[in-house]
Amino acid sequence: MKRTLVFATNNLHKLEEVSQILGDQIELRSLKDIGCEEDIPETADTLEGNALQKAHYIHSRYGTDCFADDTGLEIEALNGDPGVYSARYAGKGRDPQDNMNKVLRKLEGKTRRNARFRTAISLILDGKEYLFEGIIQGVITTEKRGEAGFGYDPIFLPDGYDQTFAELGNEIKNHISHRALAVQKLCDFLKTYTKQVE
Ligand code: IMP
Repeated sequence: MKRTLVFATNNLHKLEEVSQILGDQIELRSLKDIGCEEDIPETADTLEGNALQKAHYIHSRYGTDCFADDTGLEIEALNGDPGVYSARYAGKGRDPQDNMNKVLRKLEGKTRRNARFRTAISLILDGKEYLFEGIIQGVITTEKRGEAGFGYDPIFLPDGYDQTFAELGNEIKNHISHRALAVQKLCDFLKTYTKQVE
């Protein structure tokens, strides 16, 4: 029997990316699909904490199997910042251009520019909690390059590539990204789990 899973997001870009990887073994629902219109709190100080908080929120109110994700850009020379605060690094406006400008300013003149994107996914399935992580290493460029993607994509150059995420475009990015790696782990787990309980 096909399982239904709620992905605690209304971000169409993410839903599309995740449903591509999950394939047709899972029926994926968004927050909108289950009639959840409220803002889900994200007040933890770690990515894992936020992912867990969001998944618990949905599970406790809607009683459905669900998962939630949280992602951050962790820059070595900035002691892991902006990390869990990536969305609002330059202020409440959550403006991606302002966020990138702040990163570029803080790294001005620095040669150590290593960074990584890290995604944490929290899954609640049959009442139990599971955690998955995806990481991609790279460096922060000295200027913005490319138009595709979102967030910090124009300044993130993944290791092994000479184009930023925003230059590579969604098709390549969605194969190699932090989120893709975490979702792949979730997907592998679900395949094995579903076989075991069948
Ligand atoms: P979220 O947890 O996926 O909402 O991500 C939090 C913030 O991290 C976003 O608002 C973006 O600023 C940044 N971010 C997350 N994923 C990506 C990505 O794939 N590319 C660039 N920035 C990202």
